[in-house]
Amino acid sequence: MNESSKPSTTLVIFGATGDLAKRKLYPSIFNLFKAGHLSKSFAVVGVARRPWSNEELRATVKESIKGEDESLLNEFCQHFYYISVDVTNKESFMELKGLIEKIENDHQIPQNRMFYMAMAPQHFGTIATNLDVTGITKTTGWKRLIIEKPFGHDLESAQQLNTELRSAFSEDEIYRIDHYLGKEMVQNIEIIRFGNAIFEPLWNNRYISNVQITSSETLGVEDRGGYYDTSGALRDMVQNHMLQMVALLAMEPPNRLTPEDIRNEKIKVLRALRPISTEEVAEHFVRGQYGPGEINNKEVTGYRSEKNVDPNSITETFVAGKLHIDSHRWAGVPFYIRTGKRMSLKVTEIVIEFKDLPMNLYYKDKDKMQPNLLIIHVQPDEGITLFLNGKKIGISDLTVPVYLNYCNNCIDTQNTPEAYERLIHDCLLGDMTNFTHWDEVETSWSFVDPISKAWESNKTDLAFYDAGKMGPKEAFELLEKDGNHWWKIANKVNFNTSC
Ligand code: BG6
Repeated sequence: MNESSKPSTTLVIFGATGDLAKRKLYPSIFNLFKAGHLSKSFAVVGVARRPWSNEELRATVKESIKGEDESLLNEFCQHFYYISVDVTNKESFMELKGLIEKIENDHQIPQNRMFYMAMAPQHFGTIATNLDVTGITKTTGWKRLIIEKPFGHDLESAQQLNTELRSAFSEDEIYRIDHYLGKEMVQNIEIIRFGNAIFEPLWNNRYISNVQITSSETLGVEDRGGYYDTSGALRDMVQNHMLQMVALLAMEPPNRLTPEDIRNEKIKVLRALRPISTEEVAEHFVRGQYGPGEINNKEVTGYRSEKNVDPNSITETFVAGKLHIDSHRWAGVPFYIRTGKRMSLKVTEIVIEFKDLPMNLYYKDKDKMQPNLLIIHVQPDEGITLFLNGKKIGISDLTVPVYLNYCNNCIDTQNTPEAYERLIHDCLLGDMTNFTHWDEVETSWSFVDPISKAWESNKTDLAFYDAGKMGPKEAFELLEKDGNHWWKIANKVNFNTSC
């Protein structure tokens, strides 16, 4: 990459002392710096309430990046500045404006300003308003806003937040982060589908029986009990990450690989999701909450005993659901999703189950034969498994299962960028493909709202599961009713075996 193709930018991070900045943002920006993706004239302005100095921020940045060359780290940290800002106070923003202008003048950085909202969501609207009224967003270069989830709590609050943001930024300047869209194998879905003649012709209701998407976690709510208890798994994972994966799996091929074309196709899928009325929720969705249990041979407490969680909470820590997409391609194909905390494995995996052949010649072996499956391993293993039936070796006409494995992260894990690194880089280059458009957010909330309303009014039962299990039994029954079952997920994919 030559220097002229690396935009000179000032990145302003709201929430510079917070956990996200330390865990994800600083290491990601460092990796971009190390790989030579940043212009020599770039600056990062850390903003938070605490009265820190530049030196304190630089020490924190250094601490958050492990095992790197000391002199490179020192050079990197020189690009960081800190200012304490009360986000509700206009005067504070005037000081921020002064600092940004000074840095731009001192280092000859054009007024390309990127703002990253990585603090409590209740401040997002106020920050946007204050950036606007103090003229920080009136630049002679470009301006972009990266915003973390949650994008609202429901449709109404999301609309309100969007209106506030739009006072300072236009839609094509707002980069709504869904970090799942930065994951290597989530990005690979489009290539697997549209780059392979053997899949796309089969990718429809004639050949696919059902699609299963699992995103399970072993962790509980950790120190986020306060936020999580008002959110739950539906808002935390389904409204965004799970529905984004559904959209990528179900969308029509875009005409071109432009952000607009791809997003338009995703939006069409979200609009085609069959709405579920409050009365129908119990039939299509299961909500669960973890009780005490055991994970990795360690006893863990139940959700209601977690810090900052109401001891009578009815918040769901698990969701399983059946979605229908009312389109020619997908009519009749259920998309099953499940996600939860304190489950037995930390895995994200997609299973495409193909229909059986109309006539099975190997009837003797019928019970042993399995349908063809395409498994997309999103994390922690990254790769694909294609599950076929083959001939048992020897004088026999019996069948054996055959697994064709491709391991993505076995090849070059060193250089696989982290989701955040990729997304920050995309934003620097002005590429919006892997960010969510307002229409996607709005449509997703419209789909999810009736479900959360039914649950809030306690119209459906809350199922319980022991920590360390793959969810409550009701989640298994949801598929059994259709004659299907969740395909077993392996803890570790053995990419070395072919059968
Ligand atoms: C976040 C949720 O968006 O995604 C968290 O707020 C969840 O609750 C996390 O733990 C899961 O992300 P990943 O990348 O670990 O699957």
